[in-house]
Amino acid sequence: MDNKPEFRVVPSPNSVPGAERARILENPGFGKVFTDHMVTVSWDLDKGWHDASVRQRAPFQLDPASAVLHYAQEIFEGMKAYRTGHGTITLFRPEENARRFQASAKRMAMPEIPEELFLESIEQLVRIDRDWVPSGDGSSLYIRPFMFASEAFLGVRPAHSYIYCVIASPVGAYFKGGEKPISVWISDAFSRAAHGGTGAAKCGGNYAGSLLAQAEAAQHGCDQVVFLDAAEHRWVEELGGMNIFFVMDDGSIVTPPLGTILPGITRASLIRIARDSGITVEEKAYSFDQWQQDAASGRLKEAFACGTAAVVAPIGSVRHAGGEFSIGGGGVGTVTHDLRQRLVGMQRGSREDVYGWLHS
Ligand code: COI
Repeated sequence: MDNKPEFRVVPSPNSVPGAERARILENPGFGKVFTDHMVTVSWDLDKGWHDASVRQRAPFQLDPASAVLHYAQEIFEGMKAYRTGHGTITLFRPEENARRFQASAKRMAMPEIPEELFLESIEQLVRIDRDWVPSGDGSSLYIRPFMFASEAFLGVRPAHSYIYCVIASPVGAYFKGGEKPISVWISDAFSRAAHGGTGAAKCGGNYAGSLLAQAEAAQHGCDQVVFLDAAEHRWVEELGGMNIFFVMDDGSIVTPPLGTILPGITRASLIRIARDSGITVEEKAYSFDQWQQDAASGRLKEAFACGTAAVVAPIGSVRHAGGEFSIGGGGVGTVTHDLRQRLVGMQRGSREDVYGWLHS
């Protein structure tokens, strides 16, 4: 039943004209405009994966009883295609996205799409929409694979039918200002995930649950919310949509351990790059109390957020219910900057791909 279906490719008759596309690509923003096509593949209990197609991007027709609309059985991925300085188009570690998508599916009691089918779906979309991959500094084609329960059924059990879909959006920097330091708000009212929960899965519900805390961060004038653990409300976990790293005065780096946080592919890549350049990276619990003490004593030199969308974003200031403080004078630290340059250089082909992470 897990035979790989052949893709039916039907080019859109209504593609955005070249001049209009070029104008959009000059300043795409983030997640506001979309390419001409989408991929869909269906899954049913009796047929497995079937009906794979690449076609004009269009709205879905969904039965109002579709399980996703009631019980949020939905997962997604975030990845990027880059246009390198040599004019080629590359993907960064797409196999890791395929594996994480499978892990998320497992956690949400959904069918696991075979890695080969996932990779082909991405390649098909990037091939047909290649003219949408921007070449500007800091811009890329953000690719959003996702899957949702489409069965019309109100009983609470794993659905018997799903739609897997891939859309793409040309994007610039996630945070206005590119590498400019961001500000974060420590949420004292909300947590993101508990042990045994869905924190490590990339499911829509985790992000829905973060929105009120993120809105609170915005009310306090901050770019992002930071969540502490659910049990003790003491340990730093992650931001609304990205992982977090701390750089100490001895040059070592601390980042929260996996478990309840999203296992970020950018996170894993930065840990590898840092360790291979001689930096000690500890994946260990780090408390907000310690963060405050280290910022006050000067032991903490830098902090940054990272993720596919955000890349590497320095954290310049921290606000919380009891006050505020800055990190490293609120500027961009050298370790943060250097790690960002190495990662981005590799993704965009200006640095050697020493790990074989690029997929053309
Ligand atoms: C990503 O980094 O790809 C995410 O899914 C996070 C979201 C904030 C866009």
